[in-house]
Amino acid sequence: MKKLNDLMTMKQNGTKISMMTAYDYPSAKQVEAAGIDIILVGDSLGMTVLGYDSTVYVTLNDMIHHGRAARRGAPETFIVVDMPFGSVGVSMAADMQNAVRLYRETAADAIKIEGAHFELISQCRLIGVPVVSHLGLTPQSVGIMGYSVQAKSKAAAEQLLQEAQAAEKAGAVMLVLEAVPSDLAALISRTVTIPVIGIGAGIDTDGQVLVYHDVLQYATEHRPKFVKVYGDFTTGIEALHQFHQEVRLGQFPSDDYIYNIKVLGEEHD
Ligand code: KIV
Ligand code: NA
Repeated sequence: MKKLNDLMTMKQNGTKISMMTAYDYPSAKQVEAAGIDIILVGDSLGMTVLGYDSTVYVTLNDMIHHGRAARRGAPETFIVVDMPFGSVGVSMAADMQNAVRLYRETAADAIKIEGAHFELISQCRLIGVPVVSHLGLTPQSVGIMGYSVQAKSKAAAEQLLQEAQAAEKAGAVMLVLEAVPSDLAALISRTVTIPVIGIGAGIDTDGQVLVYHDVLQYATEHRPKFVKVYGDFTTGIEALHQFHQEVRLGQFPSDDYIYNIKVLGEEHD
């Protein structure tokens, strides 16, 4: 398993870091088998697997439930689990209890916090909880910022650079930058010493993250510009339809799928 030190070394050597979401046992198993460096149990699961229209409805218990399943599927991969909406920003005591719970109960390697919660990041660091800071587009704030590209003005870009530096100073172990201009993401990646993982942030970050269900076309509806499709799980629908047809027509199960055991005598046939 990659450790934080290995990820830092990768950044220093210019070895790009791959990160992919996984929220359950089978997908985590696949992502680990594919050799991907980091698994993100993202709160995007609210949309991709729970069917909500935003991440706002995802609870801490949801994240723990999925985080544990992902850990069982990928015991040898560095796992980051998202702190969901409402689990941070309430009070330092409540936030810290939530952070400790998520970290401990999922056996994750780090937790991820959206937004400029630098005091919380530093308190986590103090007690030994590694935190990934998520800046730029932060989907839990959809009600305020929508889903548009962030930091498009010079002033906003300067502010984001300062936030990234503040996150590093507070002790964040990694940074996720979502939907920001590529030149700004490049500058931030050069400026901070921690690994910067981009999504919709261009080619010059230290690594890239995408959502499993987007990459594999697994029942996702909207495809943001930054998503590249690498696989096609839509064929699953054809397979399911074939099962349905074969049951209807009495073709399944054929002999190959039937236990060849008889327990009843002739009188019962
Ligand atoms: O929840 C998620 O999948 C994420 C990534 C998009 C970075 O936070
Ligand atoms: Na997320």
